[in-house]
Amino acid sequence: MKLLEERIRKEGKALSESVLKVDSFINHQVDPEFMDLLGKDFAEHFKDYGITKVFTIESSGIAPAMMVAKYLQVPMVILKKQTSKILNGNVYQTRITSFTKGTSYELTLFSDYIQSDDKILLIDDFLANGEAATGASRLIEQSGAELAGIGILIEKSFQNGRKRLEDAGYYVYSQARIRKLGNGVIEFLSDDEPVISE
Ligand code: G4P
Repeated sequence: MKLLEERIRKEGKALSESVLKVDSFINHQVDPEFMDLLGKDFAEHFKDYGITKVFTIESSGIAPAMMVAKYLQVPMVILKKQTSKILNGNVYQTRITSFTKGTSYELTLFSDYIQSDDKILLIDDFLANGEAATGASRLIEQSGAELAGIGILIEKSFQNGRKRLEDAGYYVYSQARIRKLGNGVIEFLSDDEPVISE
């Protein structure tokens, strides 16, 4: 999606060969009009998938996911990051350990907010090694629902997240795909170029 690529070229900062800072419009300060455009693009892309709910993982995925849900006219559900297991109540939980951030948490979903006939679209801001998305897929499958698609704003194609999700059978659409990051360098992959990570 050219619009997101242009914005990343203008405002994104490669902090290292693996981390891209997009604090000025996605992760810290948020541009609502721009989120609306991204949401519309995802909704258009997934309009024939029969999506019944949009899921995201707190916190940076919430803004774009909200817009996607608005355009698809379905509810949005926020998967919560709890520090410990919830031992009572009807919850699905799975442990996530982020390679990128070096943190662990229990991804948590109350069973009231998913039904076995739901078709879920998962939206998230970044795809790196795919721990978070893989964890979300485990929760969705525990409930018997279907993860019908995954929409990502920024895919770091030099990491293995996309390959991991595709190998597990999931369809991934990324609005911007980054081939390479480095000292002042942000290079993109075109939509149809294959994943380059092993
Ligand atoms: P992982 O397997 O390496 O942990 O990658 P994953 O795709 O699950 O991403 C883990 C967390 O790291 C996510 O945030 C993601 O947004 C963030 N992240 C990954 N790469 C980058 C990057 O290049 N730049 C920035 N700014 N963030 C990155 P999260 O834990 O879900 O937290 P939140 O930011 O949504 O609150």
